[in-house]
Amino acid sequence: MKILILPDPAAAVARCVEIIAQTLTDNPQTVLGLATGGTMEPVYERLVERARAGEIALDEMTSFNLDEYVGLPPEHPQSYHTYMAERLFGPLGLDPARTHLPRGDAEDPAAEAARYDAAIAQAGGIDLQLLGIGGNGHIGFNEPSSSLASPTRVKTLTLATREANARFFGPDETVPRFAITMGIATILRSRHAVLLATGAKKAAAVAAMAEGPLSARCPASALQMHPRATIVLDTEAAADLELRQYYETVHPKGQEVPLG
Ligand code: GLP
Repeated sequence: MKILILPDPAAAVARCVEIIAQTLTDNPQTVLGLATGGTMEPVYERLVERARAGEIALDEMTSFNLDEYVGLPPEHPQSYHTYMAERLFGPLGLDPARTHLPRGDAEDPAAEAARYDAAIAQAGGIDLQLLGIGGNGHIGFNEPSSSLASPTRVKTLTLATREANARFFGPDETVPRFAITMGIATILRSRHAVLLATGAKKAAAVAAMAEGPLSARCPASALQMHPRATIVLDTEAAADLELRQYYETVHPKGQEVPLG
């Protein structure tokens, strides 16, 4: 794992955006794996700004989002379809045929999950997978106890996750109980995985991911098995890392240092 520790959340977001921008510059037809959640909001804001400034182009990329709530149709205000449409796809006028999310309203969610994995494979696999992390160590909606070899499938959300995500829903709405999520095996097949975590609430999960045992207790620890995982953190999210000083020596302020 490459662990990059940036001085504050804005710098961590900027570093993450830089990695995405570089990937798109190297290959405009990149297949991107996209994530939702509060952590990603400033990432999409910055991507839209940079695309509007003509610094990057996203119109040739293909994207696959990590997950979607079961039972929510795409037009539901709290669906991840809507999240993406409002924050990235809409503002950039991207061709909907290139942007994919699982259908939460599919009649047979299990079949939809299998179809989704097949569609990713059909597109040639994911080049760059963007990830956040849940306070309980989930990636996508792979909750603790998820098989580390799981394909895309339906998962039952934990109460902690439903409570954490309740802030996106209205007072009279309930957070769905199930989601379709890319599996951990699907995520591990990506060619490069970039996980962004900011804030003190993520510190324990980040330490378990990077330095804890490889365990379904912390699904993000599966990234220890990824051949190319980059973890982008601010100092608060990095606070519980025992080897923090080492990571800061290898990548001072989260930057690459030439060998030699
Ligand atoms: C959500 C999403 C994840 C996200 C995580 C953290 O439930 N399914 O993809 O990474 O939880 O969210 P946030 O960034 O809002 O803390």
